[in-house]
Amino acid sequence: MSEPLVLGIETSCDETAIGIVRGRTLLANEIASSVDEHARFGGVVPEIASRAHLEAIIPSIQRAVKAAKISLDDLDAVAVTAGPGLVGALLVGVSSASGLASGLSKPLYGVNHLAAHVSVDYLTHDLPTDPTIALLVSGGHSSLLQVDDITGSIKKLGATMDDAAGEAFDKISRVMGLGFPGGPAIDRSAKDGNASAIDFPRGLTTRSDWQTRPFDFSFSGLKTAVARYLEATPNYKMSDVAASFQEAIVDVLILKSLAACKESGIDSLVIAGGVAANSRLRVVAQERCAKAGVRLRIPSPALCTDNGAMVAALGSLMVSAGRPPSAGALDAQSSLGVETVSL
Ligand code: KG4
Ligand code: ZN
Repeated sequence: MSEPLVLGIETSCDETAIGIVRGRTLLANEIASSVDEHARFGGVVPEIASRAHLEAIIPSIQRAVKAAKISLDDLDAVAVTAGPGLVGALLVGVSSASGLASGLSKPLYGVNHLAAHVSVDYLTHDLPTDPTIALLVSGGHSSLLQVDDITGSIKKLGATMDDAAGEAFDKISRVMGLGFPGGPAIDRSAKDGNASAIDFPRGLTTRSDWQTRPFDFSFSGLKTAVARYLEATPNYKMSDVAASFQEAIVDVLILKSLAACKESGIDSLVIAGGVAANSRLRVVAQERCAKAGVRLRIPSPALCTDNGAMVAALGSLMVSAGRPPSAGALDAQSSLGVETVSL
């Protein structure tokens, strides 16, 4: 089956998202977000997210099928995010996908949300996605991966020791009063700021860190430094703080990604996850990868944040690679590790 038709369901956090792909072609990408319901709490509230998924899932599937101009009977497989994520939220997707797949007698693929973020790259060009180094930066995870085979062989080279990059954006945004989610808010504010106004620390980049933890990240020192700066500087310029904070994160992410390319001898980098939508990250990555002779791919911003297309893309790759579907009753695994591509 060269061009499998796959429907993907994503409900790991606050987006109820359905994607439909035929091979590399994206046919539908429907997203219903409950982000506005969480904003006043300054973060995602699991119970609110689960209830919103329950309300949105069936209409979202219907909208996607209509947009893709297909019939559910035409599907070759159903794919769903089985983890990691909020357990109640994941369960809505997993049970809906299980019901749909068994009702249609189609194979069901329970896939890893993090691998799916990387695999969306497959929809954006004609080249193979792997082997590649992948920088995965989202609200809950930040890691550097060596992806030898996106459908089954992912090695974690390093990860954050404390906050995820997106989490750091969200927390600093809250301290600065810029709202939730913080990444887009800081990205916007930073556009008018001077990125070298304040020299914020670059976590885990001392000489000994490069020897012992070359591919790990830490953003807690940066977070503290920004909070101290805000306290000590009553008339601080919001855009300068945003730009300097953003620069410190972007700088370390790209430095370490390129170091991983060099060490592994893989001259390809995919940047994925919500933080990959950051406009400064995209520019810096482009400049430095060009200089280093590394082929860079970053999906369009809409495909970087959570979506169903990425789940469908990974499902389609699994079908094409002849990987077996999930056996028995599929379970949601809230802390599924990044190296387990499917369940
Ligand atoms: O991948 P994602 O949509 O959801 C998770 O799997 O976590 O990532 C969400 C994270 C949030 O922390 C959000 O603040 C961040 O991605 N984000 C950004 C930008 N857009 C979203 N961070 C920096 N700059 C952005 N433009
Ligand atoms: Zn995500």
